[in-house]
Amino acid sequence: MKLSNIILISTMTSLLCLFSCNNDTQKRLSQEETTEYLMKGKEITQSTFKALSSELKAALARGGIEEAISYCNIQAMPITDSLAKAYDVKIKRTSLKTRNPDNAPNEKEQEILEGYLKLHQQGDSLKPSVHRIGVDKVLFTAPIMVQPLCLNCHGEVGKSLQQANYEIIKKHYPDDQASGYEMGDFRGIWSVEF
Ligand code: HEC
Repeated sequence: MKLSNIILISTMTSLLCLFSCNNDTQKRLSQEETTEYLMKGKEITQSTFKALSSELKAALARGGIEEAISYCNIQAMPITDSLAKAYDVKIKRTSLKTRNPDNAPNEKEQEILEGYLKLHQQGDSLKPSVHRIGVDKVLFTAPIMVQPLCLNCHGEVGKSLQQANYEIIKKHYPDDQASGYEMGDFRGIWSVEF
């Protein structure tokens, strides 16, 4: 091969790399962007959590666990969806062990969930994080931990989760995997796509 050809090929290769290695998908978020998305993500998940939990508490007061389960079954998605519309994002709750298979994680969420679980098992405290997932797509995730109230529906069957209530859950969610949790366990994540 002639020297000029070798030079030409190597110039083209490095030019190609300049373009492909520098595209937006791989561009890391700046410190400012990270701070901004963390702030927005927290605001969105906190208001969604508030909306869901106040409705959940009202349903519990109205008709106990049974009423609350059918509330979760019918209303959780529409509430989340209407907030998502208001903020112009996609909002989801997902887990390594889902109750509703529609909430199953995608590949990226699966990876993030496994990362959080590993940190939790090492005894680290879990924090929200942001990730660039496409040309102009950013994903915010925040850990969801098990609190006392949650055990009524996600606890150990026959103990914190009463058998009769579990029967009702199973009727709505035959593929349920989301029981057997204890206080302080890592339950899943909020996933907000900008
Ligand atoms: C009254 C029963 C009830 C209580 C109390 C409850 N949940 Fe759930 N949870 C459900 C049901 C039912 C679903 C499935 C909702 C759906 O169809 O999307 C669910 C779904 C979820 C999901 C979405 C992923 C999945 O498994 O499908 C997460 C995360 C979750 N719950 C966490 C919690 C946490 C954390 C608490 C306490 C703060 C809690 N839940 C309290 C009944 C309950």
